[in-house]
Amino acid sequence: MDEEYDVIVLGTGLKECVLSGLLSVNGRKVLHMDRNKYYGGESASLTPLSELYEKFGLKAEDVPESFGRQRDWNVDLIPKFLMANGQLVKLLIHSGVTKYLEFKTLDGSYVYKKGDKIYKVPADEKEALSTSLMGIFEKRRYRKFLIYVNDFDINDPKTYHGIDPKTATSQDLYHKHGLDDNTADFTGHALALHRDDSYKQENVLDTIERIKLYSSSLSRYGKSPYLYPLYGLGELPQGFARLSAIYGGTYMLDKPIEAIVYDDNGEVCGVTSGGETAKCKTVVCDPTYVKDKVKKVAQVVRAICIMNHPIPRTNDNSSCQIIIPQNQVGRKSDIYVSCVSSTHCVAVKGFYIAMVSTTVETDNPEAELQPGLDLLGPLKQKFVSVSDILVPIDDGKKSKVFVTTSYDATTHFETTCSDILDVWTRMTGEEFDFSKVQKDVEAN
Ligand SMILES: *[C@@H]1O[C@H](CO)[C@@H](O)[C@H](O)[C@H]1NC(C)=O
Repeated sequence: MDEEYDVIVLGTGLKECVLSGLLSVNGRKVLHMDRNKYYGGESASLTPLSELYEKFGLKAEDVPESFGRQRDWNVDLIPKFLMANGQLVKLLIHSGVTKYLEFKTLDGSYVYKKGDKIYKVPADEKEALSTSLMGIFEKRRYRKFLIYVNDFDINDPKTYHGIDPKTATSQDLYHKHGLDDNTADFTGHALALHRDDSYKQENVLDTIERIKLYSSSLSRYGKSPYLYPLYGLGELPQGFARLSAIYGGTYMLDKPIEAIVYDDNGEVCGVTSGGETAKCKTVVCDPTYVKDKVKKVAQVVRAICIMNHPIPRTNDNSSCQIIIPQNQVGRKSDIYVSCVSSTHCVAVKGFYIAMVSTTVETDNPEAELQPGLDLLGPLKQKFVSVSDILVPIDDGKKSKVFVTTSYDATTHFETTCSDILDVWTRMTGEEFDFSKVQKDVEAN
């Protein structure tokens, strides 16, 4: 390995693959390695089904005959959906990776309300008036609120109507519209996708933008604002890996990584794998490759559940997301439930894969999933895992080792993309320019 690379990327999770794709398009010479035999790292989709069983300490023979052809299963380890107008879709379109993938919308988006009930998330004016989530007067206030938010334009003070976007908080916005705590709860958590309640005391603009994103994503396809790729999320990192390869990136799977090598100034200069050291100027990696450069800030508990029926009370939707706002179940962080099935080519016909996840708050994490598990009905199989959320301890500018963060409990890609763009900015010193990528891709 005499060549010198601009960047060596370690781990083929979605974040690392997006970065190596973008860096390759940008003219950097990229070597991308993974210790696993498969693409996707922590965010892989496992196929055949026996891979999932083996990952959780069972044997291939343990997969029941009734589960059908094992190759027809693609089980995500970390469930997430794309917002139709969100950042990941923008990255996919601008880099041209959409041409390797096919997406389908999710059938429904639901929110949980205390008392063991789930409701379709009302996100437009018509749904606001027909929802049974609120009483009649609250519905009218809520409809007005949605119209206000969707008309709000930071460049047009006439649309402010007494809310000063410089100083107002999200709580001020709810007060102004007279919304009660339950309405605030599902607006903040199921539409604006905040993960806890700290946003209420923060600037209102972020919440307004998030609700607008939800509404505009919803209006793209009508059923829900979420998209999901056929054959599972593992298709996403592979799509970006192909992009990288087209631009000269080199990919190697199943490579044990022995060491990251630094020069006398503490700057990275190579990566050793299989006894050989490849030279490089920078490293991008997921946090599991650099134990000395990360710290654990939280844990996420996830349950992968195999079922032979859709989630009850979702009108037989073959795919959906349900958000359980923290307040509704007396917690500090939300519980996320997602469901996909054969419609998205990730399970054998007649089967459904549900996932329940949340940020760990107690020393009995599995019990914290119970409000979500209770919504699922009988399960055929359940796999529970607890993973650490690792974050880099520095910005990487000195060592030139840029580390992504672990995947959080949310079931959408917005925080994932923010992290990708943050690493990009740390590395290049520039904000990511979407228009530039498009130009580069079209030029080839
Ligand atoms: C999903 O459920 C909603 C109601 O919760 C229903 O209106 C819709 O028709 C269902 N869609 C599908 C494709 O099952």
